[in-house]
Amino acid sequence: MPKPKVFVTRIIRDKGLDLVRDFCEAEVWPGDLPPSREAMLEKVRGVDGLLCMLSDRVDAEVLEAAGPGLKVVSTYAVGFDNIDVAAATARKIPVGNTPGVLTEATADFAFALLMAAARRVTEAERSLRAGKWQTWQPSGLLGVDFVGATLGLVGFGRIGQAVARRASGFGMRVIYFSPTTPPNPSLAATPVESLDALLAQSDFVSLHTPLTPQTRQMVNADFLSKMKPNAVLVNTARGGVLDQSALYDALKNKRIFAAALDVTDPEPLPLDSPLLTLENCLIAPHIASASQKTRDDMAVLAAENLIAGLKGERLPHCVNPQVYAG
Ligand code: DGY
Repeated sequence: MPKPKVFVTRIIRDKGLDLVRDFCEAEVWPGDLPPSREAMLEKVRGVDGLLCMLSDRVDAEVLEAAGPGLKVVSTYAVGFDNIDVAAATARKIPVGNTPGVLTEATADFAFALLMAAARRVTEAERSLRAGKWQTWQPSGLLGVDFVGATLGLVGFGRIGQAVARRASGFGMRVIYFSPTTPPNPSLAATPVESLDALLAQSDFVSLHTPLTPQTRQMVNADFLSKMKPNAVLVNTARGGVLDQSALYDALKNKRIFAAALDVTDPEPLPLDSPLLTLENCLIAPHIASASQKTRDDMAVLAAENLIAGLKGERLPHCVNPQVYAG
């Protein structure tokens, strides 16, 4: 029997790629950059499966270009806002993602960003490299404190809860706003009734919501104006949940103390972005899940989803289980 044909849009970690290659005839995009739109539309033609990255737009046109033989789309990410899931569901194509395995690495990085922004780590290092370290300063580069501070989590899924566990260890009080998440009694975290209540109380605000039509640009001028004047904002969710020009104004005018972003809109962030002119804005290139074991585990899970779909089995992690109904 011929092996199923798949297109893998980047070179993923061997642990996953080996599984894919054992089971499939795989074409793997060799570049460091994602395939262009034209290349994507060409390479998917006639495939049985697609293993994509969060940087690939997988919409109805791509599904159409693949043709009727496409059995599964597997993304090497937990977030799937780059995929037109409704269009896949309409074609009965299951879409797989990689939840769970990146929770701890992402929470670690959210906490690292929170600490770095609060204690001005990157700003201090830039100042040192610029030769500005002349002596120990009694009041230089003062940051904000964690112990006794309130951390407000917007979204309280797996990653939000993992951040809450870290915050408790730092003596922080944790509150969260997530109307759809049932309380987790094992965590010292208190739900609040509204976003406004969360913003009014939080010294740190960390975003953990998926990007949806409801959350797009949720962090706008109004949101930022309700944060405490000395607050720190952290975003490891998706760039699209935040209005970057409103954030620039808030940071420039010292409406809030600092922000730390692992995600931007667009990605990569253009080098002429005004945010990059600000000392109180730390920006990382979407690396929260970038630890060796995490990326291995993501690769294995993405491969397992792909292979299950090719076999006609239920995906271990399927974002549109409706495809199995009826
Ligand atoms: C995801 O998996 O959605 C993350 O953003 C990758 O870091």
